[in-house]
Amino acid sequence: MKIAVPKERRPREARVAATPDTVKRYVALGASVAVESGAGAGANITDQAYSEAGATVADRAATLAGADFVLKVQRPQTRSDGGVDGLGDYPNRAILIALHNPYGDLVGVDDYARKGIVSFAMEFMPRISRAQSMDVLSSQSNLAGYKAVIDAAETYGRCLPMMMTAAGRVNPARVFVMGAGVAGLQAIATAKRLGAIVSATDVRPAVKEQVQSLGATFVMVESEETKAAETAGGYAKEMSEDYRRRQAEFVAAHVKTQDIVITTALIPGRRAPILITAEMVSSMKPGSVIVDLAVEQGGNVAGVKPDETVVVNGVSIIGHTNMPSRLAADASALYARNVYNFVELLIDRKTQQIAIDWNDEIVTGTCLTRDGKVVNTAVAKAVEEAGVGGAAAEEPSP
Ligand code: NAI
Repeated sequence: MKIAVPKERRPREARVAATPDTVKRYVALGASVAVESGAGAGANITDQAYSEAGATVADRAATLAGADFVLKVQRPQTRSDGGVDGLGDYPNRAILIALHNPYGDLVGVDDYARKGIVSFAMEFMPRISRAQSMDVLSSQSNLAGYKAVIDAAETYGRCLPMMMTAAGRVNPARVFVMGAGVAGLQAIATAKRLGAIVSATDVRPAVKEQVQSLGATFVMVESEETKAAETAGGYAKEMSEDYRRRQAEFVAAHVKTQDIVITTALIPGRRAPILITAEMVSSMKPGSVIVDLAVEQGGNVAGVKPDETVVVNGVSIIGHTNMPSRLAADASALYARNVYNFVELLIDRKTQQIAIDWNDEIVTGTCLTRDGKVVNTAVAKAVEEAGVGGAAAEEPSP
């Protein structure tokens, strides 16, 4: 069994899909591991550290040659990215594990199928207890929530905690967190640790106790609708226009009094809801800071721009994409362990061979392509509707 870890090539991606710790674990499973030279640089992991853990460090071609597994953070570049560093040197039928963002590159998914690649999308990991150790959305969102508060604190020209000094009193900052999922709860905890006065909101009343247990105040617009605002999977539903109007009235009154706002609200498969309008931004005090963690899904804040800090009437709106990559060492360590736990599930420890249980819900939930076909029903439908299956008549470019 050969496991390959190529270098990530997308802009602003500093993470890596394996660490010396997971390399040792793969070797103990009976695998040989090849890491592309420089793959760990963004996460401060040297080639030497990988070698000492038992990996072979090589160039890209030698890393990928004959690989049974290819471990990535982001999907490889495919024809839709101009074909640069594409799938050309991936072995046919390799097992490719990554964050594939399938709806963002349906052509790429079709290319995997054409090449016989068995691809697993880590972001589709079912949120069941058995898969918690493989849940990359949680491991990465948690870090994003932390970093959002650190970024806000850096930009905010004042202190977060209250300070009583001989020269006078410094007032604590008021931090409002919108969306109390994994990222939001970590943002609340981080802001509390820094001494801020924290409030939070969500459309799911179920999070109230979690928010309060972190020492924050929970505020929300309650209605009959919010009783059913949560899907069976624990995610939020899109709210009605009437609810959104009432929520906006409430938020408009609340944000005026806040110094820092962290927005994290997402609805699976939809554009992120706009929760902070341009008028609300203008109503905030100069020097206030907003960090929009939903920017990659369109943003929760009017006027947010990906990877920019926009300043409106003295209010900074920060829109970093790929927040976890900005904590690349920790994000890689957690991602790599998530991936290892998943790979371990695909291997028979006794025979030290690949042994995939195609009926396991973790396997069926994450598998995108197999046997030359797109097997995830929703993605297959999207590929068909987009007509990219036909467009992929040519060979994937190298
Ligand atoms: P997410 O990233 O999809 O959304 C973030 C938050 O925004 C959610 O709490 C959502 O309710 C909220 N939101 C959506 N629209 C909103 C609006 N209009 N106004 C205010 N808030 C809004 O959520 P995440 O962090 O992925 O968590 C989703 C669920 O999954 C939670 O119930 C969480 O407890 C659960 N979960 C379960 C795990 C497991 O069992 N293995 C692991 C991690 C999370």
